[in-house]
Amino acid sequence: MIKTNDKVFVLETKNNFYILSVNNVGLVSHVYYGKHIDLVDFDVTPISLRTGLPRGTATIYDEEKDKDYSMDLDLLEFSFPHKGDYLETPILFKNDKYGYVFDFTYDHYEIRKEILPLKDLPSPYDADEELIIYLKDKKEDIIVELHYLLFSEEDVIARNIVIKNNTKEDLHLLKALSMNLDLLNRDYELISTYGGWISENQRAVQEIKPGTFKIESLTGNTSARHNPLFLIKEKSTTVDQGNVYAVNLMYSGNHYETIELSAYGKLRLMTGINPFCFDYILKENEVFETPFAILSFSDKGLNDISAHMHDFVNKHVTNKNWSFCPRPVAINNWEATAWKFNESRLLSLAKDASKNGVELFVLDDGWFGARDDDFHGLGDYTVNKKKLPHGLNGLAKRINKLGMKFGLWFEPEMVNTDAVVYKEHPEYVIKNNDRTPSFGRHQLVLDLTQKAVQDYIIENVSKVLDSANIEYVKWDMNRNISDIPAFRCGEFYHRYILGLYRVISTLVEKYPHILFENCASGGNRFDLGMTRYFPQTWISDDSDALERINMMSTLTLGYPQSTFSNHVSSAVNNQLLRRTPIETRFNVAYFGVLGFELLFNEMEKVDRNKVSYFLDIYKKHRMTFQYGKMYQTDSFFNHGNEHFLIVKGEKDEIILDFNTLQKPAPVDTYLPSRDLDDEKLYSVKTVQTFMNIKRFGGLVNMILPFHVNPEGGLVNLVSKFKTIDSEHHEFLVMGNVLNNQSLTLPHQWSGTGVGDEVRVLGDFGSRLYIIEEKDEKDSN
Ligand code: DGJ
Repeated sequence: MIKTNDKVFVLETKNNFYILSVNNVGLVSHVYYGKHIDLVDFDVTPISLRTGLPRGTATIYDEEKDKDYSMDLDLLEFSFPHKGDYLETPILFKNDKYGYVFDFTYDHYEIRKEILPLKDLPSPYDADEELIIYLKDKKEDIIVELHYLLFSEEDVIARNIVIKNNTKEDLHLLKALSMNLDLLNRDYELISTYGGWISENQRAVQEIKPGTFKIESLTGNTSARHNPLFLIKEKSTTVDQGNVYAVNLMYSGNHYETIELSAYGKLRLMTGINPFCFDYILKENEVFETPFAILSFSDKGLNDISAHMHDFVNKHVTNKNWSFCPRPVAINNWEATAWKFNESRLLSLAKDASKNGVELFVLDDGWFGARDDDFHGLGDYTVNKKKLPHGLNGLAKRINKLGMKFGLWFEPEMVNTDAVVYKEHPEYVIKNNDRTPSFGRHQLVLDLTQKAVQDYIIENVSKVLDSANIEYVKWDMNRNISDIPAFRCGEFYHRYILGLYRVISTLVEKYPHILFENCASGGNRFDLGMTRYFPQTWISDDSDALERINMMSTLTLGYPQSTFSNHVSSAVNNQLLRRTPIETRFNVAYFGVLGFELLFNEMEKVDRNKVSYFLDIYKKHRMTFQYGKMYQTDSFFNHGNEHFLIVKGEKDEIILDFNTLQKPAPVDTYLPSRDLDDEKLYSVKTVQTFMNIKRFGGLVNMILPFHVNPEGGLVNLVSKFKTIDSEHHEFLVMGNVLNNQSLTLPHQWSGTGVGDEVRVLGDFGSRLYIIEEKDEKDSN
């Protein structure tokens, strides 16, 4: 709900207030962002920043109106340079008459119930209400609109600015961020992400010191270097309590976030399109939209703010056709075969997969042209008949016959130089005049700023999609952008993303039944903009369970698990060469959209035999794994040894207990369950796993009447058929027992024996606990 007395604006969401007011010099001040408070007659004086008398060198904004007021000292809802604010500002404009100096003051406001989406950029849908504050330059007919969309139930506010040039002159936008949010520092810490290929989404937590800290991308896509998501929390805030703000950006190109702390304790948060090489020319009567910044606040810690962000994404961002739809379990042939496949090899993989209950077969890179390695073939849409004699249609039919859907990989934004399209249209690729462009993965990037290129991609992808029963698409993008052209070069990076949005929104609309998965060498373009069209993302080429759980513990602060696609890969992980037990590979991949990336017939027999057992668990609790409410524990966040990840559904709750490295004297612990009904009865079950006897090394000799070589043929042979059952428990307990975290777990392995009272986790071992609500009658 938006309340106003025409001067003060109170944006009320379920638990929060966001307050701004027009001040006495006509600027808009930021007053408050936090939990509900009671205002007396819109009087914000007691909670507004009292800047007092100007300090030393302060520049006075408008001496006639207020001889003391300096922008530099106030908390501003929208700031601009050259009128006394010497922090970094969200905009920098330039025209011939006034150079860099503009002066935007409050003009009027509007409250809308019918909310229009942005024209060329993705918007969150189904907002409750919108406030628009119109600011006007004092001399020029240039308008800045501050937009606020309210998502009350989720405690989220989406903000952006829109710029209108009503003058005859060109207006150069040298910087046009989506917002600045000014707060007073309260001993805040910053949580942000960093990473690279196969190490996406690492978490950095740091104290905020005076000066500016920036996270950004310059690669032309969101990049794995830094996701735009960041959080500001008080130092004392934990996973379950304390004040925290989350900020994200609905944009897939170069982004820019700054966290600046002034000497006076003013903290300015900004996010938006990166001003790097940005010079967007706004001609007469043109309008520029900035992407939406997404804001949330919680006074209940990290789990609560991530719940806000998850609900927001699932209910207002994810392509509506797919939000809250159960997502299929996939087998993707990439790590299984790479480019070395033919129809019979694929079908044998598909048969194994379907026998185990897999629902979707995804044919990855290599199905077209001369694509037998990464030097050739991109840009060619002709099926390689040597590999696939019956074409895609023939293969899809055979896959469908096995009871599975068929899905296909594309990398439509790229070409290799042997592609026909490159020979016929060399002007389609991104390059700078007569300079030789730099390659990445031996490929060039198509120039999506050109309408002809956008149409070419739409047409060719459509032709393939129309040629067979394709129900899933993995849309890949495997290199960063370089060598941007000279013509209107300051607009290039942004126009590329606008072109991309046009292409993908057209395809998504044209093929509503197709589930699109976003990929860019893993998580090089994972953001809310892509999620608006493509509901799930291959978040990393690293499928190692430990790495994935760390990535998820970071990403889950801002993205729901319905957006993560996680695959069970081979026992020795391709990226780290780490060997991880089968149950852990499943247990971690469960927390999102589960799939496989291996050859079933090359799995150890004992593991292979258990695939459908593990898959059935996922299918039974699929909605909880994909859409349930997620919680982390402090140990997780503080890099403890034993991690717990919790996901709660309507009638069930699942807890993952993950051990990083085995300790010689492991501490005893409780099951950290959350938010169950005190008065209800629950069953708590350990998911039984099956331990390979080889894990016990020479200790097998302790139970055998004769000596065997633990690395020898006999043990190897027996291990193919025989496993040791892990501990298994099932209890009936009241919700209040679980809510008080009173249910104890068996002692971890400490070198003295196995049995029902010992949890043998070992390095990278894990357990899964399933809590299910019981009906009254079950309890008798
Ligand atoms: C990079 C992706 O992340 C992989 O999953 C795979 O699709 C390869 N590209 C194929 O070239």
